[in-house]
Amino acid sequence: MTDRELVDLAFTMLERAYVPYSKFPVGAALETADGSVFTGCNVENAAYGSAICAERCALLKAVSEGHRDPARIAIAGMGEDYCWPCGACRQMLYEFAPDMEVLCANRDRNFVKVALRELMPHGFGPASLY
Ligand code: THU
Repeated sequence: MTDRELVDLAFTMLERAYVPYSKFPVGAALETADGSVFTGCNVENAAYGSAICAERCALLKAVSEGHRDPARIAIAGMGEDYCWPCGACRQMLYEFAPDMEVLCANRDRNFVKVALRELMPHGFGPASLY
């Protein structure tokens, strides 16, 4: 799948987002090393802190299906700025693939591609534990 296709797939997930509180839908599409693709959207909750982001939704779908090797994730948002992953999502992705690529898109479907390591300098991961 091309970067463009992965980003477009992330945009299809905006309609699945459950965002009655923030009204800020986010879609994600995560591709693993073997080419498998898992989608996600943000799912909010009346207990606000229980909301799950689109990226972690996609990641947890992948891991729970036995895919622990994310290679790329596309994130689609409707903001003017690119939809950058929040800190918790960066941390969760870093656990499995510090060198993965992150594609962040804005409402015009323009996107930038960055390395997760760029978003998580000096990140804390499995290798940090003793
Ligand atoms: N959100 C995501 O799904 N991903 C991000 O990277 C940023 C934030 C969600 C969480 C919440 O449902 C809404 O966007 C507003 O913060």
